[in-house]
Amino acid sequence: MEDRFGRKIDYLRISVTDRCNLRCLYCMPLEGVKPKPRQEILRFEEILTIVHAALRLGINRFRLTGGEPLLRKGIVPFIKSLTLLPGVRDISITTNGILLTRLGEQLKEAGVQRLNISLDTMNPEKYRKITRGGSFHTAWAGITKALELGFSPVKINVIALRNINDGEWADFARLTRGHPLHIRFIELMPVGTSWHLVGKNFASCSQVRSEIEKRLGKLTPVTDMQGSGPAEYFHLPGAEGTIGFIHAMSSHFCASCNRLRLTADGKLRPCLHDRREVDVREAVRSGATGEELQELFHKALQLKPANYHEATGAPVTGRGMAQIGG
Ligand code: 5AD
Ligand code: SF4
Repeated sequence: MEDRFGRKIDYLRISVTDRCNLRCLYCMPLEGVKPKPRQEILRFEEILTIVHAALRLGINRFRLTGGEPLLRKGIVPFIKSLTLLPGVRDISITTNGILLTRLGEQLKEAGVQRLNISLDTMNPEKYRKITRGGSFHTAWAGITKALELGFSPVKINVIALRNINDGEWADFARLTRGHPLHIRFIELMPVGTSWHLVGKNFASCSQVRSEIEKRLGKLTPVTDMQGSGPAEYFHLPGAEGTIGFIHAMSSHFCASCNRLRLTADGKLRPCLHDRREVDVREAVRSGATGEELQELFHKALQLKPANYHEATGAPVTGRGMAQIGG
């Protein structure tokens, strides 16, 4: 499926819940977000129906996000039924890692290969502050478990936060020496509650890169990364893992955008920075045909802006990442 700008769309990010067991300061307000009532959240069978329509349109790679996707009851059997749908090429998960020691094995069995785990600091005290109460040791145990179980690749998402984790950028880069981890630095995006952080805490990927190079020497570009999406990858000499930069705040990023998003409450989101949505929940619930659902995907695609400058911006009070699905 192609959009108006010739971008090939083959990737759907599915938020399976708006709940989270952490409360990261760039994602949620201090008091948390009131989760939507259960009946507003798509049931797994409804998601499967939507995925079915997406597959018909050539969307065959899926990422489960949240909130925290592993919190959703029944996530493992759901993933099993997803993998059984003919045409599904890839299922990955974005998680904060907290529940991986418990669920890692079952996820592997269910057919998940790839994991993205969010980790913004390796300092337990700072972790508690950033996530407002989370345990670094639990998250780290989750990452260790993922490696032990042989998930591959395991990518670590680090949001570059000036004045918060800037002292650790090189430490994160060093992790790629001892472990087959792919460390990806992400620019802080002004979405939801991170608006107020951007002024003080934004750091660009080029700032992160030069800081790392200052300490560890020149990074070598990696050219053969599969499914790298909008990231640029490098490695340190002799390292097992790679270091990636996601220039979330540059238009070149938008030019290679290959995705749509499905929110937990059943809206298709053409763009993270655009408040427009297409409701599919009511359609599924009223027994829409496959063709009718495909029509809604086309409608969402029509709304996909060329880049975030063109987006119909979300108001400051709009949905945060936990509602949209990262
Ligand atoms: N800017 C950039 N990344 C964000 N994430 C959440 N909020 C933001 C933001 N404002 C990231 C999380 C996680 C993924 C789901 O999205 O750190 O890696
Ligand atoms: Fe939860 Fe992820 Fe938001 Fe942190 S960024 S509060 S882990 S959904």
